[in-house]
Amino acid sequence: MRRDNVVIVGFMGAGKSVCGRLLARRLGRCFVETDDMIVASEGRSIPEIFREAGEERFRQLEAEMLDALALKSGDVIATGGGLPCREGRMERLRELGTVVWLDGDVRELLARALRVGDRPMLDGRSGDEIEELYRSRRPYYGQAHITIDTTGRSADQVVSLVLAALRDAHAVRA
Ligand code: S3P
Repeated sequence: MRRDNVVIVGFMGAGKSVCGRLLARRLGRCFVETDDMIVASEGRSIPEIFREAGEERFRQLEAEMLDALALKSGDVIATGGGLPCREGRMERLRELGTVVWLDGDVRELLARALRVGDRPMLDGRSGDEIEELYRSRRPYYGQAHITIDTTGRSADQVVSLVLAALRDAHAVRA
């Protein structure tokens, strides 16, 4: 049987951290982020990992975090934007619990992502290249149990929609 975590996936700027934290509070659950787990275990920031060890090493660390997540139950888990986008990873996430894809208009996602900064995957890429990256990732995110369109919505509105969808799916006692 699948576990009872809620796993949030989606492109950079989708609001996975903000909405995930809010959702965890509403559900009275713990919130964990794979990016934070990586930073804590490596003792360096994500831009530093990309700069000093390269993207492939970062993806390897993400795979290790997937193994560590197998111990979790009842948590809200926000994943890094690229974590689900390799063969077999969505299947692993779906085994952890209900997977929620926070989607949205790619230009809006990008505008949000650029506001916060520190995202090595955006460095040196044109708007077109980032749209292409988003398009190439959609088939992975699309394997989520639930999809929420965040376009034009506040974090509060998004979380209310997620809660309603989780209730509909009888996935949590919300
Ligand atoms: C990445 C997204 C980032 C972080 C890393 C790589 C990606 O997380 O994991 O910079 O490949 O999309 P956010 O989605 O929280 O920005």
